Amino acid sequence: MSSYDLAVTGGRVWTDSGFVDGLDVLVSGETIAEVVPTGSASLGSAEVIDASGRVVIPGVIDTHSHHRDPGFTHKEDITSASRAAAAGGVTVTVGMPNVDPPTTTAALFEKLLEDFRGRSVVDYNHNPSPTNLGEIPGLAALGCLGFKLFMVVDGKRSYPHMPGLGIHDHSDIAKILEQTRDTGRPLMVHPNDQALLELIEHRHWDADLMGPEPYSKAEWMFDGVVWNSAVATLIEIQRGIGGKLHVLHMMSDRTVELIRRAKADGQDVTAEVNAFALFLANWDEVAHLGPYALGRCLKDEWRAALWAGIADGTIDVLGTDHAPHTFEEKKSGWENMWATPTGTPQLQHYVIKLLDASHRGLITLEDVVRITSVEPARRFGLAPRKGVIAPGSDADLVVVDYDREHTLGDEPVYSKAGYNPYTDETVKGFLDATVLRGRVVARDGFVTAEPGYGQQAKPVSAM
Ligand code: DOR
Ligand code: ZN
Repeated sequence: MSSYDLAVTGGRVWTDSGFVDGLDVLVSGETIAEVVPTGSASLGSAEVIDASGRVVIPGVIDTHSHHRDPGFTHKEDITSASRAAAAGGVTVTVGMPNVDPPTTTAALFEKLLEDFRGRSVVDYNHNPSPTNLGEIPGLAALGCLGFKLFMVVDGKRSYPHMPGLGIHDHSDIAKILEQTRDTGRPLMVHPNDQALLELIEHRHWDADLMGPEPYSKAEWMFDGVVWNSAVATLIEIQRGIGGKLHVLHMMSDRTVELIRRAKADGQDVTAEVNAFALFLANWDEVAHLGPYALGRCLKDEWRAALWAGIADGTIDVLGTDHAPHTFEEKKSGWENMWATPTGTPQLQHYVIKLLDASHRGLITLEDVVRITSVEPARRFGLAPRKGVIAPGSDADLVVVDYDREHTLGDEPVYSKAGYNPYTDETVKGFLDATVLRGRVVARDGFVTAEPGYGQQAKPVSAM
């Protein structure tokens, strides 16, 4: 008789063939041993999580979190970010290179990984910057999942889009893609046409249009050309050079259409949508929260195109763009958003927001799983170790009380940002438990594991 350490019993479980009712997920050590019809295996002395009436999905993977560590640890650090992640159903969180010093060399990346050891609740990794061509192979050898390139440099502030990391010369981008192609790792790009952005910025600044409304709608000028032209360029560069291109920050209808066409042409291109674009980018939301929503405001037809792009598989991945800045740092945005950092904390609440969206008919539960776990794991080389519920995979699970209604705001806020943009919202979908490699790391929205349990989640091919 086999012996198990943990049994998640009787749930509606995500499997290779979709959701199946009445399964037991049986865990030995850190991995899934078996997935069987409920009651068909003896549980022995296993710890039991009764998941009857619950939905069991694979641990969520966020390939786009800003951990702020090192350099901006008053905003966040790997411990606080990973606590927010665990509470929010996220079992892998992957950081971004706009830290200080930015991760532009293998030595700096190695140091960051050393610093993170022993400090994270959940599994983690970091997407270094590919701005130094010669460093790219060494960065890949350290087990990064992807590389992150910003095409944007901020005008009236030096953070979050700091000078040195932003590259918009097309020949430089082409050379970077050649190098990342040869590592097999995806190149994630924040698309932006810097010259057109600067034209738009100057028109705003010259007319003293500085508050949340003109800032949030700035890219409406020329109908999203800042993003559209950048995505068109990136797709053409990928077409010529090959390599894996992962386009971040889908915002407009035309960017969705461009990605759709590139995929139909067989290009190795994937796309990410952000939580703020789906949930904090209505004018009503921006009017209410001002700098605490921003992000950007999207035209209704742009947001509709994002949901449609998720539904037809054009959009592959939901990245949080968890971008914590303190409450105090955001305040100046009511007067001058151009000089105030953009971004919102997301890790703790975005899965709940997606579950709620599925109740409202905006997305299917299957697509929630696909964009938060299955595709991030596949695209970034973590599958089949993660992103699936099957024997041999890591026992990374989220137990969801899908129909439970609750109001956000009473739970602790784990991000150092110290606020939750969704406070006071009543939502449907509650997270009973987050399980990482066989261990419960959060229950009922409270973190139960200590920092140090999390490990670097390396691509399977590099293990
Ligand atoms: O709003 C944003 N904030 N967009 C980004 O690309 C970066 C992020 C941050 O780091 O704050
Ligand atoms: Zn980001």
